[in-house]
Order: sequence, then C-alpha cells, then structure tokens
Amino acid sequence: MIKKYKGFVFDLDGVLTETSNAHFEAWRELATEMGFELPGHVIDEVRGISRLESLDIVLSYDHKPKEYSYDEKVALATRKNNLYLDKIKAYSQADLSEGTIELLELLKSNHIRIALASASNNAPFLLDAMKIKHYFDAVVDPKSISNGKPAPDIFLKACEMLDLEPHECVGIEDAEAGIESIKSAGLYPIGIGKLSNCEEVYPDLKSLLSHLL
Ligand code: G6P
Ligand code: MG
Repeated sequence: MIKKYKGFVFDLDGVLTETSNAHFEAWRELATEMGFELPGHVIDEVRGISRLESLDIVLSYDHKPKEYSYDEKVALATRKNNLYLDKIKAYSQADLSEGTIELLELLKSNHIRIALASASNNAPFLLDAMKIKHYFDAVVDPKSISNGKPAPDIFLKACEMLDLEPHECVGIEDAEAGIESIKSAGLYPIGIGKLSNCEEVYPDLKSLLSHLL
C-alpha cells in the first residue's frame, strides 16, 4: 500500500512515543492537588485534545465544580504542563515507539514526504530530544490552527505544507478525535492502539511497520 501514497502525516503522542500516559499522569496529579480524583478512562478522553480543552474535561470530574476565569484556567493548564515537562525532560531516542526509525527510513527510501500533525506545543521539543526532527518535511504549529481535532484543520494544513492533496496522504493516529480529523480532511486513516472509529488499526507502530514491509 505504501506505493499508493505520496505523504504520511503522523500524530506524535501515543503514536511515535508513548507520552499519553505522561499527559494523563500530569492531569491526574493536577486533579489530586486540586482535591479530586481522575478516573483512569480519562486517558482516552484527552487523547489528541488541546491543553485548554483537556483542562475543561478534567475539571468536569471535580465533584465540587467551580467557575474559573480564563486566567485561572491558563494557570492550571500551565501547572499541568510543568508536571508533564518534568516527566519528559530526560526523553531520548530510547523513548521512541519500537519501529519508529525503521518506519521513517522506509518512507524516506520510498520518497514519501513526512509531516507531523500533533496538537502538542511540546512536539518540537520531543522531535529534537528523540532525534527524529530531520525526517520531517513539515511540522504543523498547533497555534496556527483555529479548530483542534476532531476538526480537519491540522491534517489539511499538514497536506498543504507537504504540497500534496489529502487523498495522496495517509494519516496515523491513536485518538478517536484524531481519526475523525483525518477522515474529514480526506486522508486515508490508520489507527494505532484501540480505536472504534477506524477500519485499519494496528496494536502498535511495529505492527504497522511489519505490514508495510
Ligand atoms: C496531544 C495529546 C493531548 C494533549 C495535546 C496538547 O494531542 O494527545 O493529550 O493535551 O497534545 O499537548 P500540550 O503538550 O500542548 O499540552
Ligand atoms: Mg495522539
């Protein structure tokens, strides 16, 4: 199937590296500091969702809900980010999902263009830390996108930056919101992990690599 496409657009968290747990642990610690518990399934609810939108989801689990001003919300989201940064500060190539380098090399040797469509403002740091930045022909800045996943914007922008039409590209995601985004943008969706809204799903990146080889 690899020869059918000219571009591959990757999500980062939960696809190229297993940072979804670190994101969730940071939210859980924030909730604990605020005096409430976060159930385990919230990990899937915040997958692919921007920092401030994720905060609203997290706050909805407070049994004594409060009203927060925008500035208070920004302060809470910043606190979560600091907790998260502490967890990823020592990330290196060893933290890549198994098969990542081989997959990126395979795409390069087939002259396939590669882009990143991550909602995370920490993505450039991680690409650098994990030493894979040079594989990417385009990295979408989530700040340049008006509507986050599940809206199509970020995947459309990635295709535009690659100078390709969406139907010429594959999108790879671990989040239901991300798969929705890929589908509405018109790329071919591939899921990683457990997803109910995608036909072609692999348990991990290594399995996708084996399929492509
Ligand atoms: C990814 C993660 C989300 C996270 C979002 C924003 O999509 O899956 O869990 O909320 O990025 O990340 P940031 O690092 O900017 O807070
Ligand atoms: Mg993800």
